[in-house]
Amino acid sequence: NGSSNSGRGALIVLEGLDRSGKSSQCARLLSFLQGKGCQVEGWRFPDRATGVGQMISAYLANESQFDDRTIHLLFSANRWEKTLMERKLLGGTTLIVNRYSYSGVAFSAAKGLDIQWCKAPEVGLVAPDLVIYLDVQPEKAVERGGYGGERYERIGFQKKVGEHYHSLRDSTWKVINGSLPMESVEEQLRELAMNCILECQGKQLANLAW
Ligand code: TYD
Repeated sequence: NGSSNSGRGALIVLEGLDRSGKSSQCARLLSFLQGKGCQVEGWRFPDRATGVGQMISAYLANESQFDDRTIHLLFSANRWEKTLMERKLLGGTTLIVNRYSYSGVAFSAAKGLDIQWCKAPEVGLVAPDLVIYLDVQPEKAVERGGYGGERYERIGFQKKVGEHYHSLRDSTWKVINGSLPMESVEEQLRELAMNCILECQGKQLANLAW
């Protein structure tokens, strides 16, 4: 029933373009799993609370400038500094994570950086058990409003990001049509997450290999 503490927790990542619905769906999934008695936490990247995270936050708000490679490495460092992640998972806590290395690679590659160069600093981080991609057309995401505030929220750029996300898909990915009604997306997420939590208990944690 997903509430067992016998195994490790699952690392479940949500990815998608800006305004694809990740934040709302992460919150809904989290409260659903908590209601089921699961040991679960919601995380997000960038984690703007750390020193590195504050540099990233200022950059995104156009309050500071970094060379493309430098900001890429800061996003990556912001994942490496969260050493608690592995301990939480091994201690039986499932983590629902809003964005991870795939955002790191897709957004930087969309600026024109070499994709292999982008992947390199991510190698060795804890690998997700499941990556759920909320698939929305950039045009639809724009219609949702709240778009255009931060540095990357431009439609042409988001299209490129979408193409790079596509090239990153592997066997751990499940794609959900994010244009469906919220309840339908929510239902699909619940099922994928519950199955993943049960299935990963006997499996060892892996590292991102790329
Ligand atoms: P996020 O905080 O999820 O956006 P929001 O402000 O909508 O909640 O992410 C901020 C931006 O950072 C988003 O456009 C994606 C981008 N990003 C990267 O470029 N690299 C990364 O490694 C991550 C995690 C995010």
